[in-house]
Amino acid sequence: MIIAIDGPSGAGKSTVAKAVAKKLGFSCLDTGAMYRAVAWRAQADGVALDDDAALGRLARTYDIAFGHEPGNPAPKQVFIGGVDVTDAIRTAAIDRAVSPVSAAPSVREALVEQQRRIGHAGNYVVEGRDIGTVVFPEAAVKVFLTASDEERAHRRVRQNVDRSIGSIDFDEVLADLRRRDEIDSSRATSPLRAADDAIHLDSTGRYIEDVIDEICTLAREKE
Ligand code: C5P
Repeated sequence: MIIAIDGPSGAGKSTVAKAVAKKLGFSCLDTGAMYRAVAWRAQADGVALDDDAALGRLARTYDIAFGHEPGNPAPKQVFIGGVDVTDAIRTAAIDRAVSPVSAAPSVREALVEQQRRIGHAGNYVVEGRDIGTVVFPEAAVKVFLTASDEERAHRRVRQNVDRSIGSIDFDEVLADLRRRDEIDSSRATSPLRAADDAIHLDSTGRYIEDVIDEICTLAREKE
């Protein structure tokens, strides 16, 4: 079974996806981490962020892999071409680079193929922007998770403080989230949008546990 969780940056997708996966005994796939890894590799190799052909070559050449801890469905590490980029893909520089990289059609083609291969290997909670619309349109449960811009920025600042990575300036984080949403929603290939049959959940002011339980209930109804 696939549970697709899409939505804008900072809506709580990762937290919710990990918790739902743990409760249901599913694995978890963070597709944003894959786009971030390609953006990191592009920067390391000095590839221009608008060079579709070169970006596509990177995405096809370098293997993306996840490192797991026993008993934990959420990957602990992210590797590209064997390099551990777990922390390196969460910096403000990658926040800026990832949207143009993910707008490249050849990158999307390469990563969507990998995402389908991974997801078809078992029961997965898959989070991203185009999971319910493009990657797994047949997903049993589709959720479009949102929250107000301000709440998303607050959460991202708290996350950056906890991880000691990225900006902790509220206005800067808010501006970045809005900029990324704008690019992600307006790109030509697989823009951020809810699938017609997705359930819309707004997590603003809600206990995250509530949202997690609601998705688990939806999944159990499909079993
Ligand atoms: O989820 P996260 O914020 O880590 O995603 C980083 C970026 O990767 C997004 O802003 C978006 O540009 C891109 N992305 C995408 N499609 C997905 C997942 C992420 O375009 N399925």
